[in-house]
Amino acid sequence: MQFYLAPLEGVTGYIVRNAFAHHFPYIDKYFTPFFPAAKRMNKKIIRDLIPENNPGIKLVPQLMVNDAKDMEMMGKQLKDMGFESVNLNCGCPSGTVVSKKKGAGILGDPVALDRFLDETFRVCPLKISIKTRIGVEFPSEWEDICKVYEKYPLEELIIHPRVRTDFYKNTPNMEAFAYAVDRLPMPLCYNGDINTVEDYQAFTERFPQTDRMMIGRGLLANPGLVGEILGHDRADKKQIKAFHDEIVNGYTEIFSGDKDVVGHMKEIWFYLIRFFPDKARCLKQIQKCQSMPEYRLIVQQILS
Ligand SMILES: Cc1cc2nc3c(=O)[nH]c(=O)nc-3n(C[C@H](O)[C@H](O)[C@H](O)COP(=O)(O)O)c2cc1C
Repeated sequence: MQFYLAPLEGVTGYIVRNAFAHHFPYIDKYFTPFFPAAKRMNKKIIRDLIPENNPGIKLVPQLMVNDAKDMEMMGKQLKDMGFESVNLNCGCPSGTVVSKKKGAGILGDPVALDRFLDETFRVCPLKISIKTRIGVEFPSEWEDICKVYEKYPLEELIIHPRVRTDFYKNTPNMEAFAYAVDRLPMPLCYNGDINTVEDYQAFTERFPQTDRMMIGRGLLANPGLVGEILGHDRADKKQIKAFHDEIVNGYTEIFSGDKDVVGHMKEIWFYLIRFFPDKARCLKQIQKCQSMPEYRLIVQQILS
């Protein structure tokens, strides 16, 4: 099995990716959180992409685009930076994205999706993979979406089998994933709700032919999850502390004030607190916390 870290906007930037690579080096491929097309990418995006900030990390940039010309323009820029592949976001459920017919919004009109991909495959100089949901409102939309995907030489198709209106609720629709396994010719990657070794085992029992899996929240809640799946011991507090400290130090270097650093650490703790079930009450304290000394005190309590 190949393991990918899922992109989580605001969380899995290069500092977090590096912390995984250094302390839990079991992830085969990383994806950037989505970014839009631009004639000149902004500094923050460039900083997240450049090889100097991603040493030893196999990284795929993810675009939020619904226009082939934008795919061409971005493909050229990314190729110049040394990338060979790009990932297209067809899954983001956010209202502002969907209303522009981007992210999961692109799935509402399979004819337009087909036109967009047809043109994109002619003009984009990079290999293309897609990360997709199975529809906007109903799982029944998936059949027509698959009919579009099957026409294109995708490098891989990452399937998060929820519809847009699920956001992150309900459970992944495994029948929809099975439908894709039976029908689609390109390599398929599963994504969604793999939080424990048992979840992994149940998945591989049902889909022994699937050889790639993307994990997001499960890895943030237990950064050693892939290691555990591979037979290593469960991460201990010392390892989690080293992982955490690398992220705090990285954020301290790039952000101007404590408030920003603490703000970004809150996003991490939203997931990481699950590693410490008996400290669940500390999440509220972290969420209220405003200063670095206060933050360090609470984290010390959790990690002690
Ligand atoms: C806060 C947050 C931000 C996300 N940002 C992105 C993103 O930038 N690109 C993307 O394709 N998916 C994004 N996702 C979706 C995840 O990549 C993933 O598909 C989803 O969390 C399901 O996988 P999981 O159950 O393993 O977390 C985001 C999810 C969350 C919760």
